[in-house]
Amino acid sequence: MIAWPIVLEHGDVILRPLKFSDRREWNEVQGRNRAWLKPWQATLPSGQKPSESFMDHLRYQNRQARSGRDFGLAIIHEGKFAGGITLGNVTWGSARNAYIGYWIDSSRAGMGITPTAVAMLSDWAILVGELHRVEISIRPENAASIRVVEKLGFKQEGYRVRFLHIDNDWRDHVVYVITEEQVRQQKLTTQRPLIHSRHVA
Ligand SMILES: CC(C)(COP(=O)(O)OP(=O)(O)OC[C@H]1O[C@@H](n2cnc3c(N)ncnc32)[C@H](O)[C@@H]1OP(=O)(O)O)[C@@H](O)C(=O)NCCC(=O)NCCS
Repeated sequence: MIAWPIVLEHGDVILRPLKFSDRREWNEVQGRNRAWLKPWQATLPSGQKPSESFMDHLRYQNRQARSGRDFGLAIIHEGKFAGGITLGNVTWGSARNAYIGYWIDSSRAGMGITPTAVAMLSDWAILVGELHRVEISIRPENAASIRVVEKLGFKQEGYRVRFLHIDNDWRDHVVYVITEEQVRQQKLTTQRPLIHSRHVA
């Protein structure tokens, strides 16, 4: 069982569940980042368009967390809504496995926020949540995302042909993985520098 809700903090990066009071910033950031996210965003093979409503998204995330399978968190940077990260498809039994997915506001890209968020969530999932493996599947074309997992020491594990429906077609993915053994040797978060505010008073 995953204890929920959680709040994780490292320097100026906070991960916490989305709240109703995030709706204005969420709408603004989502609206501004549509073109930035489109090539990497999950779509439905039926062609059905996922809802763009904040309330639908919030209800969906809460429902998923209650099911004990998928846990979506807002990435907060400098006190502002900055992106999202999910620990998904949590599987128990002999697997104890989950995946992580993520995105960041383009105006905050390149600052190392996502690798820090992935480090925080992976450490928590393995050391507190008692999972054994966390995997991240990335389209081979997504150089920025591949840099995220490389910086954290995830190992390339294999190639999944036409694995996920992204940007309106089935796309191949490369799978990267981190295991309990690696994280117990050194927490990923301890390797991440603290990201401080860009606006020093
Ligand atoms: C992939 C993504 C999450 C990386 O997040 P991030 O917080 O920018 O991560 P980093 O700061 O570590 O930057 C990763 C790489 O992005 C590239 N990058 C740097 N600045 C950038 C900018 N302003 N714009 C675009 N890419 C940039 C660099 O290659 C960088 O690697 P480097 O640090 O070795 O130079 C982000 O690019 C994103 O949200 N992309 C769209 C959604 C997406 O691809 N999600 C992942 C699906 S698997």
